[in-house]
Amino acid sequence: MSQLYKNNVYVVNHPLVQHKLTLMRKQESSTNTFRRLLNEISMLMAYEVTADMPMQDIEIETPMEKTTGKVIDGKKLVFVSILRAGNGILEGMLSVVPGARVGHIGLYRDPKTLTAVEYYFKMPHDMDQRDIIVVDPMLATGNSAIAAVERLKELHPKSIKFVCLVGCPEGVNAMQKAHPDVPIYTAAIDRQLNDHGYIMPGLGDAGDRIFGTK
Ligand code: URA
Repeated sequence: MSQLYKNNVYVVNHPLVQHKLTLMRKQESSTNTFRRLLNEISMLMAYEVTADMPMQDIEIETPMEKTTGKVIDGKKLVFVSILRAGNGILEGMLSVVPGARVGHIGLYRDPKTLTAVEYYFKMPHDMDQRDIIVVDPMLATGNSAIAAVERLKELHPKSIKFVCLVGCPEGVNAMQKAHPDVPIYTAAIDRQLNDHGYIMPGLGDAGDRIFGTK
């Protein structure tokens, strides 16, 4: 249940997703609660983003007779987590697609140039035969998402999608400008980015809230 916000940008407005996101936003939600909600909302986002995954027919036998059934090939799918907050989304996504592979990409913002600098990149092999879903809870400036997708495109994957929980017009526009071919799935597009690169009203620093580091 997602709504097209504009070209290739989908807002998942299912009541369960919206309800959980509201609880996550509350500043009094503990690390424990935040993590549990993130896990649950990630399963629901996985449900949406995989809705058009290719399926194949296989022959099976029920206790009654032979029949054909449809299956997806989870091994073809790679969840790529942008460190570190992306890792908060992985568990929920993997619980609904347990066969998926996982890649990690670490980027930090150079304080002088404000550009994204890669410090870690580990992907499964045969990326040219895989569909990628990049995960990061917040699409703020868009710099990390843009850099991650740029790097992943060098591996010529079959497709790339991007999933976040909260975006803002600045991040969505930047990402769309850089990668108009990459669909964005988000639970919300908030009002704006503030001067410190945080989304308003947002939910604060997703990494700190997931890992209890503040
Ligand atoms: N990263 C976060 O964790 N929160 C924001 O609001 C923006 C970027």
